[in-house]
Amino acid sequence: MTAPLTIAIDGPAAAGKGTLAKRLAEHYGLPYLDTGLLYRAIGKLASDAGIDLDDAAAVGPIAERLDTSHLDDGSLRGREAGELASRVAVHPQVRSALTAFQRDFAARPEGAVLDGRDIGTVICPNAQVKIFVTASAEVRARRRTDELAAKGRDVTYERILAEVRERDVRDAGRSVAPLKPAADAHLLDTSELDIETAFRAACEIIDRSAA
Ligand code: CDP
Ligand code: CDP
Repeated sequence: MTAPLTIAIDGPAAAGKGTLAKRLAEHYGLPYLDTGLLYRAIGKLASDAGIDLDDAAAVGPIAERLDTSHLDDGSLRGREAGELASRVAVHPQVRSALTAFQRDFAARPEGAVLDGRDIGTVICPNAQVKIFVTASAEVRARRRTDELAAKGRDVTYERILAEVRERDVRDAGRSVAPLKPAADAHLLDTSELDIETAFRAACEIIDRSAA
């Protein structure tokens, strides 16, 4: 049996984590977990229930009761859910309620690919490979704007840039599990890389690290 391969992908909003993580999972034949969906689901459940998202004591129980088998609801992928997610993600109760599920996923015998904000720092500190994907806020906002425009949404680049910056500040500024590269993470700046080039650069990092 080959040794498990756990790949941790972290980085700010719209850096290309999901696109890269999915391709890596396919390439290396590993299961993939988009951990942002967990926070998005909690944000949406709390918001739909009329709960104050800043009230940790009220949001915590929602995270504890989360049904992780039903996360693929299309409405979770949108901008609104991303904003709700980043608000509930500041609460330690929410983060700790999700830790066991994420670690169990990462501990599968073959390994796994997980993407999020704190995979390399908190969830999988012993991952064989950690990649911190970045790109300038302007490039990320441009990509998100193009993605939304292609879906027919009426959005302006300026609005998306403001949202990206706001989420960066909240994710990097929170006291629990802030967004930051693990000390042993490989930085991959995709500002000037297309998806294919970023994928190849990541494979090189992984093949070197896991050899
Ligand atoms: O998961 P995350 O929010 O980090 O980003 P994503 O959803 O994977 O990527 C955001 C957008 O940027 C998507 O439309 C990707 O197709 C695009 N992208 C890109 O243009 N170039 C890259 N190197 C990576 C992603
Ligand atoms: O795709 P995008 O980067 O826009 O968002 P996401 O990965 O789905 O994450 C949504 C929000 O959930 C982030 O802005 C974080 O506040 C939070 N999150 C987190 O705190 N920790 C994770 N491991 C994943 C997401």
